[in-house]
Amino acid sequence: MTADPLEIYLEEEDLARALRADVRAGLTDVPRWLPPKWFYDARGSELFEQITRLPEYYPTRAERAVLAEHAAEIARLTDAKTLIELGSGSSEKTRLLLDALTAHGSLGTFVPLDVSVSALRQSTAEIASAYPGLRVRGIVGDFTRHLDRLPTGGRRLVAFLGGTIGNLLPAERSSFLAAMRAALERGDWLLLGTDLVKDPGVLVPAYDDAAGVTAEFNRNVLRVLNRELDANFDVAAFDHVAIWDADQRWIEMRLRARRPMRVRVLDLDLAFAAGEELRTEVSAKFRPADVDRELTAAGFAVQARWTDDDGLFAVTLGQAV
Ligand code: SAH
Ligand code: AVI
Repeated sequence: MTADPLEIYLEEEDLARALRADVRAGLTDVPRWLPPKWFYDARGSELFEQITRLPEYYPTRAERAVLAEHAAEIARLTDAKTLIELGSGSSEKTRLLLDALTAHGSLGTFVPLDVSVSALRQSTAEIASAYPGLRVRGIVGDFTRHLDRLPTGGRRLVAFLGGTIGNLLPAERSSFLAAMRAALERGDWLLLGTDLVKDPGVLVPAYDDAAGVTAEFNRNVLRVLNRELDANFDVAAFDHVAIWDADQRWIEMRLRARRPMRVRVLDLDLAFAAGEELRTEVSAKFRPADVDRELTAAGFAVQARWTDDDGLFAVTLGQAV
């Protein structure tokens, strides 16, 4: 079967408007910041795929191990007819769920949602040809804005994998979970992947790999601004920084100006001091009890949680109550 045409919740002009608003807010703030969703143009999505294969980047492998071991149980528990995936990217690990739900016999529709059109085009085409008989409806959308527009009806399972929930700030995270619960009917399911707190000696290299792929991914956001907003960042003049913030329990990625610079973007003329840092991403790490507390507060009952053998990553199954 071929995939349905992509449903566009985010038109190009809407995306451009959101980018301009974020750039204006973030780059005029002190300290400066940008939201991580702007990493993911075609090149950023491809760099992320490369990150998932790096020896230092354990989350993808750990989550895949959990899904490989427990997908059949997830299918049995949820009996899902529709699988919705938020921030789906390549949906590579999701195939373990698709296999299990197909074998279980309940699944009819797969709905990946992502802000990256390029990732979604490729994944929907590949999944539709690998799963004949499955309806594949890709949605170009923003999971912080469009949850109220998800397809309704019939035993839904929403998968939010990869630890991407950790890329939201705490206030964004609680709004996201509340909106997620509001979008679901009682009895629907949320499968949530979360990276776990661990030794910074393991965490930091995962975000500062020896091959420099994460550094390129980080700098890619400046390339996006140069292309989309006609900005003039000297991309190579920014160093990649990844630090573990033990109080916040998150990895923070930053770009540090190597020399004083003036940058023109929109109608702004920005002065960067040598050493000045721009925050580009947080990646929160969780303790299992944090996940339980946040899901419960949002109106989910935690029905199961699985971790990989090394205790690196958790996948939690919540049910809307
Ligand atoms: N789920 C995949 C991909 C994770 S990378 C995995 O586990 O490997 C994060 C993905 O979320 C990217 O594909 C990115 O384009 C998407 N994304 C980031 N912010 C988003 C947002 N606000 N709305 C929708 N998609 C978003
Ligand atoms: C998508 N997200 C869960 C990744 C993470 O680990 O926070 C993004 C990433 N940033 C740097 N490396 C990977």
